[in-house]
Amino acid sequence: MKGVILAGGLGSRLWPCTKITNKHLLPVYDRPMIHYPLRCLVNAGIDEVLLVTGGTFAGDFLQLLGNGKEFGLKDLHYTYQEGEGGIADALRLAEDFADGGKLAVVLGDNIVERSIRGAVAAYQRQGKGARILLKRVPDPERFGVPVFAGGRIVRIEEKPSKPQSDYAVTGIYFYDHQVFEMIRGLKPSQRGELEISDVNNMYLERGQLEWSELEGWWTDAGTFPSLLRASNLVAESGANLPE
Ligand code: DAU
Repeated sequence: MKGVILAGGLGSRLWPCTKITNKHLLPVYDRPMIHYPLRCLVNAGIDEVLLVTGGTFAGDFLQLLGNGKEFGLKDLHYTYQEGEGGIADALRLAEDFADGGKLAVVLGDNIVERSIRGAVAAYQRQGKGARILLKRVPDPERFGVPVFAGGRIVRIEEKPSKPQSDYAVTGIYFYDHQVFEMIRGLKPSQRGELEISDVNNMYLERGQLEWSELEGWWTDAGTFPSLLRASNLVAESGANLPE
C-alpha cells in the first residue's frame, strides 16, 4: 500500500509563526512536525509516499526531507496544492500516484504514539471500501465525530456543537480508488472547503466504511494548545519510535 501525507493549508490558527514557515515545519519537541506522520507510515511498512503541500514555503520540505532515503523510504514524491480548498481537495492530487491502488492517508499535523501496523493489516483484509481510526477525546466538538446506532456508525458530523459521541475521527484514513470519484462529486462546505467527513459519509452510504480504535495517545498539533500538548506527549513517551 502507498501512503499520502496531506500538509497543505495556511496554518492560520498558528499565526504569526506560520507567517515565516509552513505549519508542518514547526517543531514538535525535538523535530519538525512533518517527521511524525512520515515515521508513522514508514513504521507501518509503507515505503512509497506522496507529500502534498502548498503555500509560500513548500520548497523547504525538499530541503528538509530530500528523497526520503534517510527515513527508509523507497520513494518520496511531492505535489503542490493551489490555495486551501480542504483536505479532500488536497487528496484529489494523489489520484495518479495511487494508480488504482489503496492508500493510507495521514494528516500532516497528526501525531500518534504507537504503530498503525495493525490498522494497515485490518484494511488489507477488509477488501474494498474505506477505514477510519477513532479515538476517545475530551473535546470531540473540535473534530469529525461519529454518530452510533446499534453499535454501527450511521453518520459523521464535522465539528458538531453537540457531539453525539466522545469519539474523534483521527486524521488517519484508508481509501480505495472510489475516493477520487467521490471527491469529484463534492461541493464546498460552509467554510468553503471540500470536507473529508463528506467523503467518509459517502462510503457510509455505500455500506463500505469500517473503523478501528487507535491504540496509544493521539493528538493534532494545529493550534497553540494542541501544539504544546503534542510536544509534551512526545517528550514524556516518544512517538512512532521504530519497533
Ligand atoms: O485532526 C483530525 C481532524 O482533521 C478531523 O477530525 C476532522 O474531521 C478533519 O476535518 C480535520 O479537521 P481540522 O479542521 O483540524 O483540519 P485542518 O484544517 O487543521 O487541516 C488538517 C491538516 O490537513 C493540515 O495540517 C494539512 C491538511 N490540509 C488541510 C487543508 C484545509 C491540506 O493539506 N489542505 C487543506 O486545504
